[in-house]
Amino acid sequence: MNGLLKFITCGSVDDGKSTLIGHMLYDAKLLFTDQERALELDSRVGSREGKIDYSLLLDGLMAEREQGITIDVAYRYFTTERRSFIVADTPGHEEYTRNMAVGASFADLAVILVDASQGLLIQTRRHARICALMGIRYFLFAVNKMDLVGYREKEYKRIEKEIKKLAVDLELENVEVIPVSATEGDNVTYKSERMPWYRKKTLLEYLETVEVENAAGESQKDRESGFVMPVQRVCRPNASFRGFQGQPACGTLFVGEEVTILPSGERAKVQALLLADRQAERVKRGEPVTVQLNREIDVSRGCVLVKGTKLSVSSLFTATLLWMDDTELVEGKNFLIKIGTKKLPATVMAIKYKIDINSGESIADSRLRKNEIAVCDLALAEKAVFDAFKRHRELGSFILIDRITNMTSACGVIEHSLRRSDNLTWQRLDITREYRAKRLGQSPVTLWFTGLSGAGKSALANEIEKALNVQGKHTMLLDGDNVRMGLNRNLGFKEQDRIENIRRTAEVAKLMNDAGLIVLTSFISPYESDRRKAREIIGTGNFIEIYVSTPLEECERRDVKGLYKKARAGQIPNFTGISSPYEPPEYPEIMIDTSRCTLEEAAEYVLERMQGHFG
Ligand code: ADX
Repeated sequence: MNGLLKFITCGSVDDGKSTLIGHMLYDAKLLFTDQERALELDSRVGSREGKIDYSLLLDGLMAEREQGITIDVAYRYFTTERRSFIVADTPGHEEYTRNMAVGASFADLAVILVDASQGLLIQTRRHARICALMGIRYFLFAVNKMDLVGYREKEYKRIEKEIKKLAVDLELENVEVIPVSATEGDNVTYKSERMPWYRKKTLLEYLETVEVENAAGESQKDRESGFVMPVQRVCRPNASFRGFQGQPACGTLFVGEEVTILPSGERAKVQALLLADRQAERVKRGEPVTVQLNREIDVSRGCVLVKGTKLSVSSLFTATLLWMDDTELVEGKNFLIKIGTKKLPATVMAIKYKIDINSGESIADSRLRKNEIAVCDLALAEKAVFDAFKRHRELGSFILIDRITNMTSACGVIEHSLRRSDNLTWQRLDITREYRAKRLGQSPVTLWFTGLSGAGKSALANEIEKALNVQGKHTMLLDGDNVRMGLNRNLGFKEQDRIENIRRTAEVAKLMNDAGLIVLTSFISPYESDRRKAREIIGTGNFIEIYVSTPLEECERRDVKGLYKKARAGQIPNFTGISSPYEPPEYPEIMIDTSRCTLEEAAEYVLERMQGHFG
C-alpha cells in the first residue's frame, strides 16, 4: 500500500468538486449501504431526474459538520485497497482565499477542477497560484464536464494546452491533466469508453499511485535535505531526565549521531530516542519523538535540532505574503510571527511589490488589501531559525498573528534571508547603561503619555518634568509636534507614517534611557500595537504608559490649536478622533482625565503613582 496522500480540491462553485469526490467514494464502495439508498432517494427529487446526484453526499456531510462548529475547511478521510487519503474540501469563492490557504498548507497535492465547457477561468489561475504559494508541488487538473463537450479530444487538447501554459507561468512542477465527467463517472474510477483517445490513468488510479515524497529529478538539490526537528517542548519529568520533543520535519536521525542545536550552534550526540515510551534506534520524518542528548545544553521551544543541513539564523528576510485580514496591511505594522514552533514579534518593514493574483504581474503599492499577495521584507525582534521555503517547507513558512485580535492576519513563505542583518555585530561598550545611570544617581525610565490631541499630554508631561528637575533628576521631554519638526519631518499622519513616528521615538527614548536620562514622551500614539512595540523597544520594566483619557468632547471644546475646527471642516485629513482612529490602552500603568482636575493635581497624582520608580 502506498503512503497516505493528503490533497486539496479546488474549484469554483459549479465546477463539480463535490460530485467528483462523491463519485469516487461511491465507485470505490466507500459508502455505507444506507447512505447509498438515501442518496438514491434524495436524487429522485433532486436535479438529476432519478440518477444519483453524487454531490448530495458531500453536501450532506458538509451541512452536518457545519451544524456543529463553524469549520471553514472540511477534511474527509477514506481508504481504498491501495492507499489512504485525506482530502481538504474548501469553498472556492474569492472570499474564501483564507480557507484555501489553510487547506493547501496541509496538502501534498492539489486537484484543480476545470469546467471543459468554460476552459481556464481567472479562478483557476487564482487557485493554482495560491496552492503553489502554499508549497504544493503536485497538481492534478481534472478537466470536468467532458460530457457537455461531447467527449471530444479537440476540446480537451485546447484546455490542456492552456493548462500547460499556466504551469509554465507559475513554474508548477509535476502537472497531470485528466479528462473526466464527474456526474457520469468517466475516468473517475473507471476508464471511460467514451474517450478512447485518452489512454493514461484514471483520476483515482493516479491518486493511488502518485509518489509525492520524492520530488522529481533535477531540482532535488533544492529539496529538503538532512535532518531537521523544531523543538516543540522540553520535557523534564525528573532531575535526571531531559528530553526534547518534536516531529522531524525531514530526514532521519540515529542514536549516536551528532546534532547541532540552532540558533546557538552548540553540538551534542544523541544518547537516546523515545518513540511513545519505547526506545528506538532511529527516528524519521513525521514521527513524534523525544530526543535525549549526551550533555546539558540550553534548548528551549523554538530551537531546532539539525544534522547535515544549513539553515539561516537571522532576523531579516524577504517573503511572499498572502494577506487575509479585513483591515489593510501597511508598512511598519508589527505582529507575532510563528515559524516552525517559534513565536516572536516581527515587523513588516517594506511592501516591495504586489503580485496580481490572476495575471502574475508585479504592481507597486504600499498597502495590501484582503486576499492580495505581495513580496515583503520582514524583521524579527531577534534572530530565529528559518530557511527558504523551497528547501524546507516547515521552516520556510509562517503565519502573522494580529497582536490585538489574535487572528491570523497573513500566511507567507520565505524567499531568502537578507544578509544585511548578519553582517552587523553588536559592539560591547565599557561605559554601560548601568554605569551612566549610577553616575546620574537615578533609574532611567520612559513615561509614555498617550491620548487625543488636546487631551493635555504635553502640558502634563511638562509639569511633571519640572517637578522632577526640582528633585534633581536628569530628564528629557520628547514632544510629538517638536519631534515632527525635526527628526520626523518626513512623516505625515497616514497609518504607516504614524507607525514609523512611534518606532523612531521609542528608539530615541531608549537611547536616552541608555544615556541615563528619565524620558517623557508626548505623542498621540493612537495604535495599541505600536505602543506595545514601543514597550518592547524600551523594555517592559522601563516603560510606564500614561493614558491621558480626557474625552473627545472636552478636547474638541478646548481646541487649543484650532485643529478640531479645521478637521471638522474637512481641512485636515486623518485627524485623530475625527477621521482617524484612537485605540485606548487597555491596561495603562496610569490613567488620568484632565477634565476632572487641575493641571497641578494631575501632575501630583502621576508623581505619587510613580514614587520609587526614579531611583
Ligand atoms: S501620532 O499620531 O503620530 O502619535 P503626534 O503625537 O506625533 O501624532 O502628532 C500629533 C500632533 O500633530 C497633534 O497634537 C496636532 O498638533 C498635530 N496634527 C496635525 N495633523 C494631525 C492629524 N491629522 N491628526 C492628529 N494630529 C495632527
